[in-house]
Amino acid sequence: MLRITVLVSGGGTNLQAIIDAIRAGIIHDTQIARVISNNPKAYAMERAKEAGIEAMCISPKSYDDREKFHDALLKGIDDADTDLVVLAGFMVVLPPKLIKKYAGRIINIHPSLIPSFCGQGYYGLRVHEAVLARGVKVTGATVHFVDEGTDTGPIIFQQAVEVKQDDTPETLQRRVMEEAEWKIMPRAIDMIAQGRVKIKDGRVILS
Ligand code: GRF
Repeated sequence: MLRITVLVSGGGTNLQAIIDAIRAGIIHDTQIARVISNNPKAYAMERAKEAGIEAMCISPKSYDDREKFHDALLKGIDDADTDLVVLAGFMVVLPPKLIKKYAGRIINIHPSLIPSFCGQGYYGLRVHEAVLARGVKVTGATVHFVDEGTDTGPIIFQQAVEVKQDDTPETLQRRVMEEAEWKIMPRAIDMIAQGRVKIKDGRVILS
């Protein structure tokens, strides 16, 4: 049984997609051990509670400095006996200590086709604003392993999504979630749970 800890900051629709996929048997042999939010107001916390999952808030505001916050975050993950850390809209830059300890065991969902529209400053609606400003016709989402860089880790799955002429950042964000994020994130977790995802020379090999 793969024990995952899901880190969230906001609405939690990706968390919901994971919960639903476990229930539907789309994700096998996986249990959400804990949900951790840095934001006490995140609606994702309600979703976790509703599903009977332990929801824990670890807010930087509760700690004297960043290091103490980072230590608490690491402890929150360790204490849940976590096999895989899933970043589902987590708006905190991970401390190097955490990335090192969980190397090859942290995944993230990014709302574009990496390496386009990613890296520093590309998060949330900004990604979709940049996509529309550039006028690309295809965008999408990427689920990838997390390394020390921003959106630079090995790519597990990508799903393309059409950009429509009358899209707003909000309509595009919604379509990318529905058609890409909510599908490839559960699929990646299931593949990892089945031991079918390996990293070789910085790239993902699926079996
Ligand atoms: C998603 O767009 C995801 O790609 C990005 O943050 C957003 C999270 O949305 N990393 P939600 O909290 O899962 O609804």
